[in-house]
Amino acid sequence: MEYQFSNRVLSLKPSAIREIFKYASDPSVISLSAGNPAPEAFPIKEVSEISARILSERPIDALQYSITEGYAPLREHLSSYMKKTHGVGRDFDNILITSGAQQVMDLATKSLCNEGDVVICEAPSFIGSLNTFRSYNCRLRGIPMESDGMDMTELEKALQEEANVRFIYTIPNFQNPSGITMSWEKRRQLYALAKKYGVLILEDNPYGDLRFYGEHIEAVKSLDEDGIVIYAGTFSKVISPGMRVGYAIAPQEILQKMIVCKQGEDVHTNIWSQIVCHELMTKYDFDAQLKRLREVYLKKSAIATGALDKYLAPMVTYQPIEGGLFLWCTLPDGVDMIDFCKQAVERKVCVVPGNAFLTNENDPCQSFRINFSTPTDIQLLKGIQILGELARELIRN
Ligand SMILES: Cc1ncc(COP(=O)(O)O)c(C=O)c1O
Repeated sequence: MEYQFSNRVLSLKPSAIREIFKYASDPSVISLSAGNPAPEAFPIKEVSEISARILSERPIDALQYSITEGYAPLREHLSSYMKKTHGVGRDFDNILITSGAQQVMDLATKSLCNEGDVVICEAPSFIGSLNTFRSYNCRLRGIPMESDGMDMTELEKALQEEANVRFIYTIPNFQNPSGITMSWEKRRQLYALAKKYGVLILEDNPYGDLRFYGEHIEAVKSLDEDGIVIYAGTFSKVISPGMRVGYAIAPQEILQKMIVCKQGEDVHTNIWSQIVCHELMTKYDFDAQLKRLREVYLKKSAIATGALDKYLAPMVTYQPIEGGLFLWCTLPDGVDMIDFCKQAVERKVCVVPGNAFLTNENDPCQSFRINFSTPTDIQLLKGIQILGELARELIRN
């Protein structure tokens, strides 16, 4: 049988770069390539207590079909929590519970973009979102990153040059993959530019609660007086990604379309998980859970940066971070980055080549991404030591 695929997916191909990921599942390989929470980060006791209680006291609530918008008590609690603690959400906004933040990207693109429309992205940016935009045949325009966020001159140039920009996609806190946090000044500039050129902003914030240094910076959505920001939140990095609970806070008119699209995708988000998230936020000390996570990741990031300083500096530089799960490392010119990543896999250490995160994977890139949350402390030290030995050998040759 010769299969006929849709035009939308014809251009989606497995990338040669991503072939490297295959090795990450080999147990003898130290994987610094995942983006998973640390195993010790999960509130296992609390989740099992809540689940047992739900199943004994109100099993049908957890096992029956539910409504697309999401579990009402969770929606109400999250709305007031985000308003009170982050100034996110106005009268024109509403909230939709989604199956992870990933689904917000999907539903927003499905609702807003025609084939050929332009999505402006940070370059580099999160592969999962880029692939979602690609799957709707959007054209991606990458904006280079500076140490405090997107280059605003380049952003304005793109807004002037591109005709059908539907939204600007940003990950403002501890960006995946670069670790960069957008300054407050740039958040204001981004908002002003979006307003000036009449385009929406899709703000993806999975890592905002994982700040272990410095001052919290409010979301771009907190500036939204005009109904131009779609905010994507998630419990994946603060409770569990396996539970698949995320949410969108966005103008009601946009959410209405996203709800219809969601009905055709998965009807509703796992209701059992939604009840667990609600109880964890309201009946347990959720702030203590966040504090514990910050402590875990502060410690792990210190091990990773200590090892980078010891084994890779000054040949390889890295972007300083104040939170999140990733370090973005840059090899000196003259070292072939893809070759470095391939040889690292041969030595049983897996990192992600930076090209994978670009809007055009063929653009030149000297960087690779390290994740420090998933490996054990010993694996982190050992893995980075091996990368250091490899870098030294390649630079010598
Ligand atoms: C920037 C970014 N957005 C979205 C997601 C997807 O998160 P979720 O598990 O909530 O779908 C991830 C996951 O790693 C991410 O890094």
